[in-house]
Amino acid sequence: MESVTFAGELDKTSRYRELAPQLASLFDGEPDLIANLANAAAALKSCIRKASWVGFYVVRDGELVLGPFQGNVACVRIAFGRGVCGFVAQHRRTIIVPDVDQFAGHIACDAGSRSEIVLPIFKGDRLVAVLDVDSYELAAFDDLDAAGLEPVAKLLGTLSW
Ligand code: SME
Repeated sequence: MESVTFAGELDKTSRYRELAPQLASLFDGEPDLIANLANAAAALKSCIRKASWVGFYVVRDGELVLGPFQGNVACVRIAFGRGVCGFVAQHRRTIIVPDVDQFAGHIACDAGSRSEIVLPIFKGDRLVAVLDVDSYELAAFDDLDAAGLEPVAKLLGTLSW
């Protein structure tokens, strides 16, 4: 059984490896931020098999505001420091939450959500958004997801924020 798990993880890593170049070609020649984020949310949702929701919360006047996403309707505004997304915005680092019920202050936009990973997106030093990926499975995300999504977050930071 171990080899099955290993093969699955290799597969996840190679799926992520294809994502940044795929996104780079989608963004190529297109300056519109909303269009690019919308396509990024769609590409991320189909790449990340365990994702129930993928989307962006954009920094607007010191709070996070819902941006393009794929999945069920979600909370529109999140204050810095609130929930997982607000925590990432405040602390400016990626967080993996294996069980959202264990995260004090988690905001349940979708009661079915069990785990999540959230990455900050920077334009230079400026935090411009967070990327939120949720799953209906417990502990759906691990360090391989963080490593796979890091170049994607970097690329997203180069858009016209
Ligand atoms: N769960 C997130 C809120 C965003 S939604 O799940 C889409 C949080 O606690 O920040």
